[in-house]
Amino acid sequence: MLVLGIETSCDESGVALYSSEAGGGRLLAHALHSQVCMHADYGGVVPELASRDHVRRIVPLLRQVLAASGRRLEELDAVAYTQGPGLAGALLVGAAFAEALATGLGIPTVPVHHLEGHLLSPLLSHDPPAFPFVALLVSGGHTQLMRVTAVGAYELLGETLDDAAGEAFDKTAKLLGLDYPGGPALAALADRGRPGQVVFPRPMLRSGDLDFSFSGLKTAVLTRVREIGDLDEQRRADIARGFQEAIVEVLASKALRALRRCGLKRLVVAGGVGANRELRRQIDARTARARVSVYYPELEFCTDNGAMIALAGALRLQSGHAAKPAGCFAVRPRWPLTG
Ligand code: KG4
Ligand code: ZN
Repeated sequence: MLVLGIETSCDESGVALYSSEAGGGRLLAHALHSQVCMHADYGGVVPELASRDHVRRIVPLLRQVLAASGRRLEELDAVAYTQGPGLAGALLVGAAFAEALATGLGIPTVPVHHLEGHLLSPLLSHDPPAFPFVALLVSGGHTQLMRVTAVGAYELLGETLDDAAGEAFDKTAKLLGLDYPGGPALAALADRGRPGQVVFPRPMLRSGDLDFSFSGLKTAVLTRVREIGDLDEQRRADIARGFQEAIVEVLASKALRALRRCGLKRLVVAGGVGANRELRRQIDARTARARVSVYYPELEFCTDNGAMIALAGALRLQSGHAAKPAGCFAVRPRWPLTG
């Protein structure tokens, strides 16, 4: 079965082609256009600009994927696309395109939850995890711990009560004068920071539950920046390091706690912040001690992409979830994965 995947929920246009066969499947081709440079001038994503850019990019990306895979549109069996959550206008571009294409081809569509794409994304790698597993989902909009028993069977174990981990990285980066999107820039600055020079609180580390809260951490950084006043490069790096150490310790500890609670030995780390090297280092060290296997998506599939949407669509079809007749559709800008 040949499934086209389309992702347009935020500032990345992604298109991919996934072929699922009994006993396995494979990604045939994928193409991505990031709008990061366009939004950087404004210090964040401008929704209307995002929608317009998706309109411009989607057909060239589709052509690229077809050319790279050597497949034709007529060979497609279904079109999967991100139905939500995300920016309403941006989602509408992908959804309208997918539904129109599928209508023209006389094939069904599979509306996909963006977070489902993220948490299944390690299944695209050479060493995919088996079910069940615990997933730590850390993106710009979400921070959640999930118990995943099968495709479509997700139990929310805990989540952030305020800012998402990526949002905390981005806001703190802004405070330190770094450009949008700040996560990777802050991580690079933290590499030059000295350990133990600046220590921030570990929010909710001992709360006993699996929830998170990161907005206080951002305020603690702001207070420290004001106290110091004149920030030289080394002090900025020390603050970045202190911030990263705090957030990473909380994420890693709670992920381990979730594994203990569920009695599971497999952990998936997905979403943009999953690309953070310090987070990976801490998680690798702790999971090795606890004899837990940890699975990350390939770096290129940590942030938003079409491959994870094509995969989620194909797995949904394979596991018996009905496809939708193409035509009538709605997007879901706010959409919980569970509940
Ligand atoms: O999953 P994603 O591409 O988009 C959402 O669905 O939100 O995640 C983007 C987030 C941004 O907040 C970005 O700053 C953060 O992931 N991010 C990082 C790193 N790479 C991306 N945060 C920390 N360290 C990184 N290396
Ligand atoms: Zn995402």
